[in-house]
Amino acid sequence: MASTAKSRWADAEEDAAFEEKRRRDKEKKEEKRRLKVIEKAKKEKEAEAARRAASTSNAGNNNTDDVDGDRPLKRRKYTPEPHDSRRAAQNGTPKERGEITAAPEGSLLRLTGGSLPDPCRSVERYEKLNDIEEGAYGWVARAKDKATGEVVALKRLKLDANDRSGVPVTGLREIQLLKDCAHRNVVELREVVVGDRRPIDNILLVLEFVEHDLKSILEDMPQPFLASEVKTLLRQLASGVAYLHGRWILHRDLKTSNLLLNNRGQLKIADFGMARYIEEDTSGGSTSHLTALVVTLWYRAPELLLGARRYGRAVDMWSVGCIFGELLTREPLLQGKNEADELARIFDLCGVPTDATWPGFRRLPNARALRLPPSSQHQQSTTAAIRGKFPLLTTAGCSLLASLLSLDPEKRPTADEMLDHEYFRQDPRAKQEAMFPTFPSKAGQERRRRRDTPNAPQRGGAVADLGNMDFTGIFGGRDKEERGAGFSLRMV
Ligand SMILES: Nc1ncnc2c1ncn2[C@@H]1O[C@H](COP(=O)(O)OP(=O)(O)O)[C@@H](O)[C@H]1O
Ligand SMILES: [Mg+2]
Repeated sequence: MASTAKSRWADAEEDAAFEEKRRRDKEKKEEKRRLKVIEKAKKEKEAEAARRAASTSNAGNNNTDDVDGDRPLKRRKYTPEPHDSRRAAQNGTPKERGEITAAPEGSLLRLTGGSLPDPCRSVERYEKLNDIEEGAYGWVARAKDKATGEVVALKRLKLDANDRSGVPVTGLREIQLLKDCAHRNVVELREVVVGDRRPIDNILLVLEFVEHDLKSILEDMPQPFLASEVKTLLRQLASGVAYLHGRWILHRDLKTSNLLLNNRGQLKIADFGMARYIEEDTSGGSTSHLTALVVTLWYRAPELLLGARRYGRAVDMWSVGCIFGELLTREPLLQGKNEADELARIFDLCGVPTDATWPGFRRLPNARALRLPPSSQHQQSTTAAIRGKFPLLTTAGCSLLASLLSLDPEKRPTADEMLDHEYFRQDPRAKQEAMFPTFPSKAGQERRRRRDTPNAPQRGGAVADLGNMDFTGIFGGRDKEERGAGFSLRMV
């Protein structure tokens, strides 16, 4: 019996060793086969690219993307796209321009070249006319479609210099979101084109060309906009924002240089580099944690400055308030030198927050260190401060601006509510777009001149630690103050 048992164990061990060897051999074979398939696909791709290069009449105008217009490769893989339902629900977008793989915030994403249902065409189809903007962050140029003669704007996506095969999530979001949008007050993305070098080192958005941005106009115009013109611009801005917010999109970088204006008086929201979709909770905020380091400093809402990670549409409405003020005076409303100074200027205009005016603000990460004057101390209402700052603005205008600049995000109107505000119903009525004045287009000729203004924060940066901020002297000695926020901010 014992020997049978022994022999049974021996058999089992032998079997196991044999099985193990077979498994290893199989794995090796499979790996070999996989490499062969990859190698073959690569060769096929190269041959295909060469064939297309040869057959294209326009030298250098070849496109080596994986899918040919009439002969798709055999192994096509489609990446499921987020927000498909929203995209399906919307019509009017130009033809599909490529699939995008979603990834969590902060990571690099790849354009799934092999799965493009309609491959990106080559940038060679466009002839550059002139640079519009070349800054630290990006490059935009005016260009002409060689085939149709149509003038467009080309915007180069910022690729990560260290990883040329990857596109930063912001770039992909910009494509994705613009692709999902079709509204007269949102700039139209016509297509995405790529440079000819492989691996792709240039991805460009082809946008409808718009003659001006509001910042350039404001910088150059000798007289401010008329009240009726401000109203036209604001109504269009609110319509565009209402459209975005209705589609769960936060722009997160609304400012005058990102608002374009064409010669027919139409305003277009542009620059979706900071934008993203949000999931919503019932309070209008976001269910997930978002980065607080968004929105260019001068347009950044107080909850962001105080480090809020759950925020919502109201951050854009704060920026709309800042833009409103800027349209009236031609000067940015709250030009903070840094985060603490920005907050100081906000409190100077809107008063310091109290538990009554902004319930729960103390729970925000940066609010714990705030030292504020006692609540009994007199402070004027935001409306009164606004009335003082904008003496020509009507009462309705002051009340709208004051509500947009509510410290408590929940008290700010939504874009739809803004459109319903009596400000838009009162005289002077909004000027008809067709009657809007035209301006000489700098974009049509040369690079736009820029004054030094802050840019949107860079991804991956840390939210400023504001330290202990002492605002207790905020309302003292105003007469001695200089223009602007005036009071000094003591860091203790
Ligand atoms: N479609 C367009 N037509 C004309 N000019 C544009 C267009 N898009 C952008 N610009 C100009 O280029 C500038 C920068 O573009 P933007 O999209 O804001 O990129 P960035 O991310 O570099 O700020 C804008 O302020 C505007 O002057
Ligand atoms: Mg911009």
